[in-house]
Amino acid sequence: MTKQVTARAHTNIALIKYWGKANVALNIPTTSSLSLTLDKFYTTTRVQFTDQAQDELILNSVSTDSTRVSGFLDLFREKYGDFPKILVTSENHVPTAAGLASSASSFSALTGAMFGLLELKPDEKEMSIMARKGSGSASRSIFGNFAVWNKGWDDQSSFAACFYDEDIQLTMIVAELSSERKKMSSTKGMQLAQTAPTYADWVNKSAVQLEEMKNGIIKRDIEKIGRIAQDNALGMHEQNRLAREPFDYFTRQTFEIIEFTKQCYKEGFLAFVTIDAGPNVKIITDRATERQLLEKLHQNFPQIRFEVAHAGEGLKYV
Ligand code: DP6
Repeated sequence: MTKQVTARAHTNIALIKYWGKANVALNIPTTSSLSLTLDKFYTTTRVQFTDQAQDELILNSVSTDSTRVSGFLDLFREKYGDFPKILVTSENHVPTAAGLASSASSFSALTGAMFGLLELKPDEKEMSIMARKGSGSASRSIFGNFAVWNKGWDDQSSFAACFYDEDIQLTMIVAELSSERKKMSSTKGMQLAQTAPTYADWVNKSAVQLEEMKNGIIKRDIEKIGRIAQDNALGMHEQNRLAREPFDYFTRQTFEIIEFTKQCYKEGFLAFVTIDAGPNVKIITDRATERQLLEKLHQNFPQIRFEVAHAGEGLKYV
């Protein structure tokens, strides 16, 4: 039987965002970022050698365009020596309707699987470097709980590491909103955002927020974590609106949920928001509050689906 290796990686949500590249070809970011890996959403990927003429990707049982995956596998060929074409079979347990980015879990799982197939030393730093080149945020999904991606300055210095490997009882409630507008990829979106006149200020502020965030995590201060994450994310989206070609990921529902969350906070609930390259809102709260908050959300937004997620584990072989 031909050798096959299967790996699973979970998606992560940044509390301090990666939103801009200092080096586009290598995915070296303008800021260091910090994320929480989630238990609920993940990708399982199997790789094996094939004698076909091309690398092939089967995603959720459907043969899919493999251009990006094949380009990524070529990076392995360049770095570790040539090998036959690869059949990649991937199951995404990230609801695409929810617009949650699956590139983090996908490239992290694929990296892990390829390290296994090529019998490379399972060095987490090297894995994070490779995953980063597939998709920046994938560098962090190698790790469970809280990970920091230190931006570095070149290929070998830009990688993530586990920052705090304990579940601090943080909850993320994901509001699955449908997008009313044409999708703008994160790759393109961040490129535009970097043209905002205030972008350098956001980058500088982000470095300060990162240190405060680390402190909040160590102290298990979810209120502090949420406040900084919300400020960092809203600042990121402000750059999009101020870009030379302005754009906005928020929809009417995004604004409504943000307002609702702010109102909940005024009423004494622990509740903050973070938002990525799409309309979905992730509400940051804690385990003690999640049920009550979820009830309130269901009452006010009966048409919206909410998913509750907690801290998840890092890359695993299955
Ligand atoms: C808003 O990692 O998807 O989720 O490196 O171009 O593939 P590429 O971008 P990607 O960007 C993620 C952006 C974000 C913030 C974050 O995860 O830090």
